[in-house]
Amino acid sequence: MNNPCPFSMQHAVKTGGVAAIELRQLSKRYKGARAPALNGIDLTVREGGFFGILGPNGAGKTTLMSVLGGLLKPSSGSVLINGQDLQRHRAAIKRVLGMVPQEPAIYPTLTARENLEYFGRMQGLTGKHLQSRVEACLEIAEISGEADQRVEHFSGGFKRRLNLVIGLIHEPRILILDEPTVAIDPHSRALIHQRLRELHAAGISILISTHYMEEAEQLCQEIAIMHHGRILVQGTVGDLLAMQRNETIQMQLTGDPPAALAQKLQKLPGLQNAFVSGRCVMVTAERPDEIAVQLMQTVHEHGLGVHSMGFGASSLEQVFLSLTESKAEK
Ligand SMILES: Nc1ncnc2c1ncn2[C@@H]1O[C@H](COP(=O)(O)OP(=O)(O)O)[C@@H](O)[C@H]1O
Ligand SMILES: [Mg+2]
Repeated sequence: MNNPCPFSMQHAVKTGGVAAIELRQLSKRYKGARAPALNGIDLTVREGGFFGILGPNGAGKTTLMSVLGGLLKPSSGSVLINGQDLQRHRAAIKRVLGMVPQEPAIYPTLTARENLEYFGRMQGLTGKHLQSRVEACLEIAEISGEADQRVEHFSGGFKRRLNLVIGLIHEPRILILDEPTVAIDPHSRALIHQRLRELHAAGISILISTHYMEEAEQLCQEIAIMHHGRILVQGTVGDLLAMQRNETIQMQLTGDPPAALAQKLQKLPGLQNAFVSGRCVMVTAERPDEIAVQLMQTVHEHGLGVHSMGFGASSLEQVFLSLTESKAEK
């Protein structure tokens, strides 16, 4: 299947080495579901990269993370971690991959220290090495003072901090985090951000999902915007922000456009980029007034009308909202 995204800003990043994470045409359909939760995802996190998946609720972020964590089998497509197939090299991959799930996976009746010891043992750590990792993780999460308290008494922020370091107990080289800062206090969020920056600086490859735009913008080198199981647009943060500098036209169409429309629009002279999500069309151009008429003509040639049309410089937030809140996608 071709990537339906008409506007991919993905750069071919050649590092010489293999990618930390490589997904090719990854799809997942839950039993009995009307639509796939993942639909042909292509994504590369280079070694040492910091990659963010930005998407609203229901986009498929947790499904994607669960497939990567080996908790869920994909329906089709491939997952390579450090160049190795996830299905065939589970044990080797488990040693290098750390997972921080959306729902904190911690035992409420155990203390923070006991949780870390338990998950450390699950990763094969023992003896002095286990103890030193437990102490290091307590410090990273800044919960050493609360180490011997039962986790059920922890605040949401403390639970999230513990959840983070459980994923770090075995010193993974690749870390995947599913919405690690949802609904927590600003101090805990800032601490988690700081730790992620430090891990990135230490060469750890990071894939994080979030629905906070500013979180992705502040932390990540590359971002993919995901919606309805597909990646709509991906590129460096610079690429995405460059859209703010271009003038944009946004249009709501009266019907569903054929796939050919995006390609046709892309060819219009003076137009920089075009992408289509449901009945929402967004284009960027230096002189939008000069292409507006052609744009409408092209839409009409495909048997469609324009329900509404707006001009204006766009923010990343507008880009995100216009792509993911298309009312017609019912
Ligand atoms: N266990 C499941 N069974 C059936 N459908 C599911 C299951 N988990 C998630 N879904 C559906 O898959 C889609 C993607 O969900 P999810 O991956 O949780 O998205 P996100 O994490 O971005 O909010 C949603 O439509 C959701 O309802
Ligand atoms: Mg989720």
